[in-house]
Amino acid sequence: MASSVVIQGKTFERFLSEGEIQARLQEVAVQIRAMHQEEDVVFIVILKGSLFVAADLMRACQLDTPLEVVRARSYQGMKSTGVVEITMTDTLSLKGKTVIIIEDIVETGRTLQAVHHHLKQFEPGHLKTFSLLRKPKALINPVPIDYVGFDIDSEFVVGYGLDFDEKGRELKDIYRLRE
Ligand code: IMP
Ligand code: MG
Repeated sequence: MASSVVIQGKTFERFLSEGEIQARLQEVAVQIRAMHQEEDVVFIVILKGSLFVAADLMRACQLDTPLEVVRARSYQGMKSTGVVEITMTDTLSLKGKTVIIIEDIVETGRTLQAVHHHLKQFEPGHLKTFSLLRKPKALINPVPIDYVGFDIDSEFVVGYGLDFDEKGRELKDIYRLRE
């Protein structure tokens, strides 16, 4: 894999390899299995960036669970717009279930907090959260994250589903912006 990539004129350097990501997902999957294998679990993917990690996490967990999706959007380019739009929730049936929300990255926490709050109205038995990446120094909206892949600095990253204006999602590794 290339050690750097150029997207829209910006250079990103390799940060987390496919192997490191998959190894960490296996570890978290063991925790999720141990905690929830006796429960009625539903995974909910926050589209679109989390599709990639959700597919790998779900296979790593080896739990026979349904998969649902919601759409949340607050980003344009490299900036969050501050307003979270949540859609695609009308057919969800979550009452009494253990819902595990799968997010790719938590920065301010605004998106995950909004989705978490929104899903409460469906009366899940337990509402849990997973995020592949977390930027602890950027976190301003307190939202519990039960399962975390990696804590990272407050820098912009792409790859493995994460995009820069819809570019870079297909990269197998995760890259960070070179200043
Ligand atoms: P938050 O609402 O500030 O926590 O931001 C979370 C959302 O912003 C994520 O679901 C991503 O879609 C996007 N995001 C935050 N940081 C990055 C990044 O470094 N690269 C790509 N997308 C990001
Ligand atoms: Mg996202």
